[in-house]
Amino acid sequence: MSDPSGHDHTIDTGKGTFQLSELGHLMPGMAEIMPLVGGRIWKCYYAGRAENQALARFQLKEAVNLMEKGAFLRPKYQENMEKFVNEEVAAVRKCIESEDWENFDSAFRAMVDAANAYHDVYDKPFLRWRIPDQPPPDLDMTPRT
Ligand code: HEM
Repeated sequence: MSDPSGHDHTIDTGKGTFQLSELGHLMPGMAEIMPLVGGRIWKCYYAGRAENQALARFQLKEAVNLMEKGAFLRPKYQENMEKFVNEEVAAVRKCIESEDWENFDSAFRAMVDAANAYHDVYDKPFLRWRIPDQPPPDLDMTPRT
């Protein structure tokens, strides 16, 4: 598909070419972005359990960046994504910022339940994300003193 203005550019990947106007089709959708969100959220959870504020804050921020990118590229999710970020994610962020580790776990579980409820809303009730039983093996969760 070419640009309706007739103005286009050829992108050379080194292995082949495509038109700039086709770039949108190559941008990631939720199917590519969501598993990355899951990875960040997993790290956020275990960072919080380790009372590692800096790491939990960082992972949550990166998860939100990914979700916002998803909603930017797929505007039909925009409204509910914003609601999710402003409500359930904000409650988790508040626990991290105030180092309220006592309430972190329940806020986190409420956020995961809400995420799965949104999966339901989008006709994907079979996508039930759960917190893995073990911390991610690739990152040290210990806070730096
Ligand atoms: C804690 C937050 C969330 C986590 C950890 C999470 C996790 C995931 C994961 C891991 C998948 C991919 C499952 C797979 O294909 O193997 C997925 C898919 C999906 N998620 Fe989420 N999700 C979250 C929040 C949300 C929210 C807030 C929305 C919408 C407002 C949403 C919409 C979707 C949609 C539409 C898909 C299906 C994508 C497709 O077509 O393949 N998710 N989610």
